[in-house]
Amino acid sequence: MSPIKVGLLGLGVVGGGTWKVLTRNAEEIARRAGRHIEVTAAAVRDLDKAKRLVGDSVMLTQDGFDVVRHPDIDIVVELIGGDTLARDLIMEAIAQGKHVVTANKALLAKHGNEIFAAAHAQGVMVTFEAAVAGGIPIIKAIREGLTANRIQWLAGIINGTTNFILSEMRSQGLPFDQVLAEAQRLGYAEADPTFDIEGVDAAHKLTLLASLAFGIPVQFDKAHIEGISQLAAEDIAHAERLGYRIKLLGITRRCDKGIELRVHPTLVPMSCLLANVEGAMNAVLVSGDVVGPTMYYGQGAGELPTASAVVADLIDVTRLESADPGHRVPHLAFQPDAMDDTPILPV
Ligand code: NDP
Ligand code: HSE
Repeated sequence: MSPIKVGLLGLGVVGGGTWKVLTRNAEEIARRAGRHIEVTAAAVRDLDKAKRLVGDSVMLTQDGFDVVRHPDIDIVVELIGGDTLARDLIMEAIAQGKHVVTANKALLAKHGNEIFAAAHAQGVMVTFEAAVAGGIPIIKAIREGLTANRIQWLAGIINGTTNFILSEMRSQGLPFDQVLAEAQRLGYAEADPTFDIEGVDAAHKLTLLASLAFGIPVQFDKAHIEGISQLAAEDIAHAERLGYRIKLLGITRRCDKGIELRVHPTLVPMSCLLANVEGAMNAVLVSGDVVGPTMYYGQGAGELPTASAVVADLIDVTRLESADPGHRVPHLAFQPDAMDDTPILPV
C-alpha cells in the first residue's frame, strides 16, 4: 500500500519529537498502521532550523496554508499552538477533507465544539490524545477502555510544569522563578507560562476530559480556576509538617444538580498515591460505576512523551482511514444529536 502522507504544522518541542519518533520507529509504526507514514510537508517560522532537523526530503514553508491545502496530504498534524492561526488552519484542513491530529488543548477548550461539529459534518477525524496528560493514553482510556461505564468523577494532576515547580520547591528548596525557568528550558511550559501557573492549562485539559467523560459540550468558560502563583514555600513546608502535599488538581464530578469543574491547589494526604506523583509526571484517577476507581500515570509533558501520543493518534487515523475510507467513523465522543445538557455548577 502507498504511504499515508502527513503535513506537520510546527517542528518545535512536540513537532520535532514527532519527527524523531516517526523516524526512529518507522518500521514498527508502518507494521502497526498497515502503511508507512510519510511526512510530506512542514510549516515553521525558521526554515534553516527546520532544515537542520528534517533535511531535504520534506517540503518546508512558512505558510501553514501551503500544508493544509497540499493535494497529496491526508492528515494534518497541528503543533503550532495558540487559538487563532491554529484554528484557521484546522478549519481549512477539515474543509479540505483532511483528518487532523492536534496537541492543542487551549484551542480545543475554546473552539472544540465548532471544530468537532465541522469534522463530524465533513466525515473526518480530529484526534487529540497529546492534548491531555502528555504521554498517558487518558483519552483512549476514557473513550474506549471505560466506555461501558457511567463515569462518576475524575481527578488528577494534569499540568506537568506546576507539579515540577511544587516538587522542586519542596524537595530541593528552590525558588519558584528558578524552577519555572528550568521547566521552560526542558520544554514543559506553555509559550505563555501564566497558562501553567494560573491553572488555565489544567482547566483546558479538564474541560476536554469532562466533555468525554460526561458527554457534555466543551465548556471552559464555566470552569473554576485557581493556580499556584499565590503559594509560598512556607505553605508547602507547613502542609508537609501536617502530613500533606499541595498538588494542583483538576477535579470534575457528576452531582445531583450538575457537574463540578474545578482546578485549584489541594491538600493531598501523603498516604495517597497522588501525593507521591512528583516532577513533570501526571496522574489521573477516573471512577466509573462498573469498574470502580482506576488510575493512569506517566510523563505529562515534554518532547518524546508527548510525541508518543501524537504518533499513536497518527497510527489510529491511518488504520481507520485505510480500513474504511468511504465510511469513516468519527473518532471522538462528539455526538451532536445526543449531548448531555447537565449544567456545570458554580463554585
Ligand atoms: P514550540 O513553541 O516548541 O513549537 C511551535 C512550533 O510551531 C515551532 O516549530 C514554530 O516554528 C512553529 N510556529 C509557530 N508559529 C508559527 C507560524 N505562524 N507559522 C508557522 N510555524 C509556526 O511549542 P510546543 O511544541 O511546545 O507546543 C506545540 C503545541 O503542543 C501547543 O499547542 C502546546 O500546548 C502543545 N503541547 C505541548 C506540550 C509540551 O510538553 N511542550 C505537551 C502537550 C501539548 P519555529 O520552530 O520556526 O519557531
Ligand atoms: N505545559 C503543559 C504542562 C504541557 O506543563 O503540562 C503538557 O500539556
